[in-house]
Amino acid sequence: MTRFIDLASLEDIPRQGARLIRTAAGCVAVFRTADDSVFALDDRCPHKGGPLSEGIVHGHQVTCPLHNWVFDLNTGTAQGTDEGAVRTWPVTVSNGRVLISADLLSRHQAA
Ligand code: FES
Repeated sequence: MTRFIDLASLEDIPRQGARLIRTAAGCVAVFRTADDSVFALDDRCPHKGGPLSEGIVHGHQVTCPLHNWVFDLNTGTAQGTDEGAVRTWPVTVSNGRVLISADLLSRHQAA
């Protein structure tokens, strides 16, 4: 079962924008759409490393700012190409707070 950690207020993330967080798993972009849905994806575009957090959010998609690949925020897959997908991470909103997977924020621990 996924444990969640409080990340921020929903209002801290601009509508149709993103907030970049640095995690044990690398940089993750937390997106807020116009309908106040939130999604968390790896920030690095699999094409040439463009920062998806600086992309344009439209519907439940984001367009990479470098070469305009379009990613589905639900699945992380790029449309119209076989080459790529970015990892997605569990994120949810509860009482106006954005909660993100604890696994993402925790450091690797010794077994
Ligand atoms: S780096 Fe994202 S589309 Fe090229």
